[in-house]
Amino acid sequence: MRKTATTQTGGTIPAQPGPRDATDGLGASDASDVSATAQPPGPQSGIVSAEGEMSGVSVPGSDTDAVILGAGPSFRPGERATVRLRDAGSDDPPRYAPEWLELREGADATARAHDLLDPLRIRLANLPGRAGLVIHDVGCGTGSMGRWLAPHLDGAQHWILHDRDPYLLHFAAVASPRSGADGSRVTVETRRGDIGRLTPDALNGASLVTASALLDVLTREEVGTLAAACAGAGCPALLTLSVAGRVELTPSDPLDAEIAEAFNAHQRRSGMLGPDAVTAAAEAFAEHGATVQVHPSPWRLGPDESALTAQWLRGWVGAAVEERPELRERADRYLSERLAACQAGELRVVVHHSDLLALCRPTGGAS
Ligand SMILES: C[S@@+](CC[C@H](N)C(=O)[O-])C[C@H]1O[C@@H](n2cnc3c(N)ncnc32)[C@H](O)[C@@H]1O
Repeated sequence: MRKTATTQTGGTIPAQPGPRDATDGLGASDASDVSATAQPPGPQSGIVSAEGEMSGVSVPGSDTDAVILGAGPSFRPGERATVRLRDAGSDDPPRYAPEWLELREGADATARAHDLLDPLRIRLANLPGRAGLVIHDVGCGTGSMGRWLAPHLDGAQHWILHDRDPYLLHFAAVASPRSGADGSRVTVETRRGDIGRLTPDALNGASLVTASALLDVLTREEVGTLAAACAGAGCPALLTLSVAGRVELTPSDPLDAEIAEAFNAHQRRSGMLGPDAVTAAAEAFAEHGATVQVHPSPWRLGPDESALTAQWLRGWVGAAVEERPELRERADRYLSERLAACQAGELRVVVHHSDLLALCRPTGGAS
């Protein structure tokens, strides 16, 4: 029998969907060219799943060793945040484990910058002649942004969940939010596609674009594409939980700074923005005339979050060693001591993030 995990909204996501869950009915399409099928993949109504382009690719199924937890790409089980297809090449993009996204969901929800909600609500309330909100969640993963944001917004909402990973889109669809702040209905559809190919047309009629824990894994070009698409569609963007490149561990250790520096360098590999993401996004949106606000959204992890802290530590240190192999011996000792302190409830960690709200100039096309 398939394992399930309870989400914040009470929906359930299968812990290990088999290969058929991720590949059923998938043809060729992208975010700007989606043919929707009326085949709800989950128990609730209001879901439309879009076709993707995964035929011929095998996805981890019953082999749980293929699922790798942690905070970044790796091949060592138990250490990092992503899943790689067993037959994927080294150039393929990292794939994120739903278990990791679930582990961080509570800390993400606590960290999000509530100060950005009021200016967003004001903008949404002033949309001309809207029947309901149309919200695009790009890089949605298993959909944690929708589970957090939908209950903070009034009115009927239709969420369009974008990701390049159909495996995660499946989770997002079955555990989608059901109702808004005032009890209005929330419906969802999924679209498989790459943000690098997002166009203003794909956002036609959008009230809002959201993302969470996404910007730092994008390139400057991809962030530029996202900003141009939002500006072209005249819709605001709430882009949350981008890493800021700063962490504070208490008690401190002489190796903290070296690990942090190596981790940040690792994040910038292959042109990804890492800790430069929020600045780059703010610049990209401002170039299109948007008003940009940035607020801190740090994880504050104490003894109650020890499972997340331990997994984050493994990923953080693992990435640093991958970047600077000469750190390995000292880093192994460091990680053992940090994990022991974490288990004993003696470690506190602040992982700094930023949330960004970009209010693009309306074009009159929003619903
Ligand atoms: C760190 S996860 C965050 C997922 C989710 N937003 C959350 O907060 O739990 C990043 C997500 O972005 C997706 N992603 C990364 N780069 C992408 C791209 N260029 N196009 C589409 N999706 C992308 C990944 O597949 C993954 O689901």
